[in-house]
Amino acid sequence: APAVIVAIDGPSGTGKSSTSKAVAAQLGLSYLDTGAQYRAITWWMVTNGIDTDDAQAVAAAADKPEILSGTAPENPTITVDGVDVAAPIRTQEVTSKVSAVSAVPEVRARITELQRAIAASAVTGIVVEGRDIGTTVLPDADLKIFLTASAEARAARRSGELKDADVKATREALIKRDAADSTRKTSPLAKADDAVEVDTTDLTLQQVIECVVSLVEEKR
Ligand code: C5P
Repeated sequence: APAVIVAIDGPSGTGKSSTSKAVAAQLGLSYLDTGAQYRAITWWMVTNGIDTDDAQAVAAAADKPEILSGTAPENPTITVDGVDVAAPIRTQEVTSKVSAVSAVPEVRARITELQRAIAASAVTGIVVEGRDIGTTVLPDADLKIFLTASAEARAARRSGELKDADVKATREALIKRDAADSTRKTSPLAKADDAVEVDTTDLTLQQVIECVVSLVEEKR
């Protein structure tokens, strides 16, 4: 069977990562978390003292870090210059700076190239999750899904993950990040015209997974 390419986009807190990993595992496909790559390059900028609000400085350094992603859905890994950064890319600091770094065109060009190479080398196929996969990175994907959910549901899910009682602050940070990601000039968060939109507000994770699995099976 030819490799099947699945693009899953949407804002944060819609269940993109959990869904993408489970779908890939069930169908024997590779998995790529593109948000982790943007977080990894942001972590490198912060660690190397680059002002993430200085787009020129970020652009000039965009090619420096070597970012490697492991694509097994049961154990996705991410390293920068050989260092495992799975934990430090999830800090508040990186989360608050990633939108500015990922808005820089040189950063997007670099990371997009990595993403296309990884997708092209996936033997059985791959589930790629992000913000611009269906619109920009893999416009010829076999299936494009756009996940949405109400702001309340997204903040509640994220707060649960962070074990953060302050749902309101989480919600505000989330809305701010999504607004920045949706309004940037270079490949903003957007639904591709041919994407299937799935509103996950009132669905369980298991229901979303089943829905996406059956959509992939229809395409195979
Ligand atoms: O998915 P996650 O929340 O980890 O993504 C972190 C950030 O990476 C997003 O807020 C966005 O700024 C950036 N991103 C992006 N394009 C993608 C995936 C993530 O710009 N395809």
